[in-house]
Amino acid sequence: MNLILLGPPGAGKGTQAKTLAKNLSVAHISTGDILRQNVADGTELGKQAKDFMSKGLLVTDELVIKMVGNRLGQADTKNGFILDGFPRTIAQAQALDKLLDERKLKIDYVIDLDTSEAVIIQRLSGRLACKGCNYNFHVKNMPPKVAGVCDNCSGELYQRVDDKEETIKKRLEVYRKESAPLIEFYAAKNNLQRVPADDEAGLVLERVIKLVEKR
Ligand code: AP5
Repeated sequence: MNLILLGPPGAGKGTQAKTLAKNLSVAHISTGDILRQNVADGTELGKQAKDFMSKGLLVTDELVIKMVGNRLGQADTKNGFILDGFPRTIAQAQALDKLLDERKLKIDYVIDLDTSEAVIIQRLSGRLACKGCNYNFHVKNMPPKVAGVCDNCSGELYQRVDDKEETIKKRLEVYRKESAPLIEFYAAKNNLQRVPADDEAGLVLERVIKLVEKR
């Protein structure tokens, strides 16, 4: 099963993708997580991406497409994958089509997590991310059992640099301009499914599972 999760920043793509990937035994490919790891490791890719990310801007298509191409070649994608945060521009979606054709793969569902702006701001301003395993928590919505400590790997929780109010606004602006057109792009291909995602994470997960089980 190969899925794409679309949705604005804070829609819950990462939260849903991590659980779904476990349930479906497929790889979770988050371009945001891969880029943040590269920034933390100080790699050449991380150095090129860092400024764009901290300003809430998109990293160049060229860098991200190459990164995803490499990732799709790894063994753990054999059973399928969930793309979280990619594609994010029409150029990325067209490049993905090419990458999939080369590998004789297809996307089963493109799921758009439909979320309102007020919910997004509440979620992002309270998000805590794990330095170790990238799990997401929230100070109110999904607090960790022990403050500052990840339930999953006991790693340290931190606030992402791009979760400051000004940067959240910028990311939403970039989403509307660059990424929202993907909804039309995939609707025209007839594989877009919209899932209401303002509700609590368990309910959203149930909706997504019901959808993928129909296949
Ligand atoms: P990325 O990490 O992909 O950020 P994003 O798309 O802005 O998405 P988020 O991670 O902010 O949100 P999410 O939808 O995953 O929500 P989450 O599950 O965490 O990208 C970061 C940056 O990297 C980009 O700005 C760009 O610079 C670069 N980049 C990445 N991909 C790129 C690409 N393809 N091209 C170019 N540049 C790229 O949930 C948010 C919070 O809400 C959490 O606290 C969570 O606990 C809580 N929550 C989640 N679901 C619920 C729920 N249902 N109810 C209550 N709380 C919830």
